[in-house]
Amino acid sequence: MFPERVVSGMRPTGALHLGHYHGALKNWVRLQAEYPCLFFVADWHALTTHYDSPDVIGDNIWEMVVDWLAAGIDPQQSTLFIQSRVPEHAELHLLLSMSTPLGWLERVPTYKDQQEKLSDRDLATYGFLGYPLLQAADILIYRAAWVPVGEDQVPHIELTREIARRFNHLFGREPGFEDKAREAVRRLGSKRARLYQDLRNRFQEQGDEQALQQARELLEQSPNLSMGDRERLFGWLEGSRKIILSEPQALLTEASRMPGIDGQKMSKSYGNAIGMREDPESVKRKIRTMPTDPARVRRTDAGDPSRCPVWQLHVVYTDDATREWVQSGCTSAGIGCLECKQPVIDAVLKEQEGFRERAQPYLDDPSLLRNIIADGCDKARKLAQETMREVREVMGLSHD
Ligand code: TRP
Ligand code: SF4
Repeated sequence: MFPERVVSGMRPTGALHLGHYHGALKNWVRLQAEYPCLFFVADWHALTTHYDSPDVIGDNIWEMVVDWLAAGIDPQQSTLFIQSRVPEHAELHLLLSMSTPLGWLERVPTYKDQQEKLSDRDLATYGFLGYPLLQAADILIYRAAWVPVGEDQVPHIELTREIARRFNHLFGREPGFEDKAREAVRRLGSKRARLYQDLRNRFQEQGDEQALQQARELLEQSPNLSMGDRERLFGWLEGSRKIILSEPQALLTEASRMPGIDGQKMSKSYGNAIGMREDPESVKRKIRTMPTDPARVRRTDAGDPSRCPVWQLHVVYTDDATREWVQSGCTSAGIGCLECKQPVIDAVLKEQEGFRERAQPYLDDPSLLRNIIADGCDKARKLAQETMREVREVMGLSHD
């Protein structure tokens, strides 16, 4: 609700590769300029699948955060933290678990998929079933409006929305809600109150979604509302409950078509990745030995870029003129593959130079990194505590 917050998390997989950068991080960097953003290391989520190898998590966290900063995530703009340092996430997870039907979790597509894919692990665990509920808690605890994720995560955001709706339905009841809502409307001031009523009628009588959206914006821009009145007015727009947890929306990250050095999707587990801060010599070697269109056996054989993984890298890394040069040179056998790869190599190395430069201060002085995370954890925790105060209250747990 209130300021349109962005929340996203990443499991600590260690040093990140170019696929992570072009898939997710570049998007985060763009978002941080537009919204208040919270980005966190999902270390508990890593444990749901790797509970038997906790040692891999420790170092991976710091490597990964360095890569976030190397990508251009700015700790002045974004709040960076570690999930397990904000234990309120676990508390909300527990409380949400009380009313979450098992069937909702069993039906999440990643549940069965991942169990099959990671068949070397025993994932018939309570923690693994709860993975998407923990994710819902991560998001709802900050009342996030937007969650940048890849396609595979969309069902988790859908579930998060259902969890929020159910929570509000169960716990947003309030004796005398309607009277309190009407009083809250009056407190908006006569001009805003009239507009709110009008928009509400348009939504309720004609299903006008635009009016609903406008009314929400009106509330977001009404500075003097108390938290309770805000929840009532958001809820009163749509029905007869307070909105305590707001429904987030997925902000779909366009799937990066970044191929690995074997032409398959870049992934650490396929062993085909190029690290964000990998040694330049190794990067050159990897790109030079990349497979190309199999039709080009000899230098004189013409090729087709659409059958060549190097072309995919051109799409990400080079300009129109270079790509035209590739198209005509490849299809006429006018250029050789090594020649064709050179502009890609140059562009990747240049990009990585920027990553290395931004990472260096944190490698020289790791305490900088620790401080950024400590500050981020404090900030995140304050926000999380605000939400939890209310959640506890409506669930009958504020025993003062
Ligand atoms: N499940 C996400 C992934 O595997 C990571 C994640 C955990 C997350 N909590 C989140 C992403 C909250 C967005 C919001 O990529
Ligand atoms: Fe691929 Fe370029 Fe060789 Fe064509 S010239 S096959 S696009 S590497």
